[in-house]
Amino acid sequence: MFAANWKMNHAPADAEAFMRQFLAYYPRTQDRTVIFFPSALTLHTLRLALKDRTDIKVGVQNIHWEDHGAFTGENSATIARGTGAKYALVGHSERRHVFGETDEQAGLKVAAAIRAGLTPLLCVGETLAERERGDTIAVVVRQLREGLGKAEIAQVASCLVAYEPVWAIGTGKTASPADANSVHSAIRQELRTLAGDRSEAVPVLYGGSVNRGNAASLLAEAEIDGVLVGGASLDAEAWSAIART
Ligand code: PGA
Repeated sequence: MFAANWKMNHAPADAEAFMRQFLAYYPRTQDRTVIFFPSALTLHTLRLALKDRTDIKVGVQNIHWEDHGAFTGENSATIARGTGAKYALVGHSERRHVFGETDEQAGLKVAAAIRAGLTPLLCVGETLAERERGDTIAVVVRQLREGLGKAEIAQVASCLVAYEPVWAIGTGKTASPADANSVHSAIRQELRTLAGDRSEAVPVLYGGSVNRGNAASLLAEAEIDGVLVGGASLDAEAWSAIART
């Protein structure tokens, strides 16, 4: 699973130019899924630019937890679905740490995504201070419980999770493959507690300064099922190289 988080980059015209290049580099493949998370305003254009490439999916970076109403500036999961989104990022560290989103809100957003037929990709991860205090596992377990705990087992089984240590996002610092793998094992264990055997179907992605130089060693780890990539997904050639890892 290869997910590109474009954050607040690439206007519709840039996305069209990107996709012309990317589709030339990236052949149709059966064994992997590529998902783009563009700006909500670029999503529809990107969906159209994919033409018949139904192997490539599109998702929204954020949703509100209500289905509709007086929430100026927000987008609901239903509206995102109407623009062609199939996935929704929930609880990305920038949402949590720049915009003050809580664990509880992440749980409500996961529920809203499921109600609207979007697949949630729940992001979890510790800050540097939490890591230094030895709290990494406690933090990701809490974020998983709050994020997925209200969903039914079958719904948890259809979600995606990304482990993104906050200190590794956009900093050029990556968790070592072995370190990341051990946190992924703890995530897998907690998913089993939440959804039993069905949790085996939940892909757990790694994110935080992934690039074409380190993607292969991260993906070689047994518990890492994919990557969620910010900066390195903005360039069509770099991103197609990562997606072909
Ligand atoms: P980065 O971002 O690859 O630029 O570190 C990853 C993310 O925020 O999802």
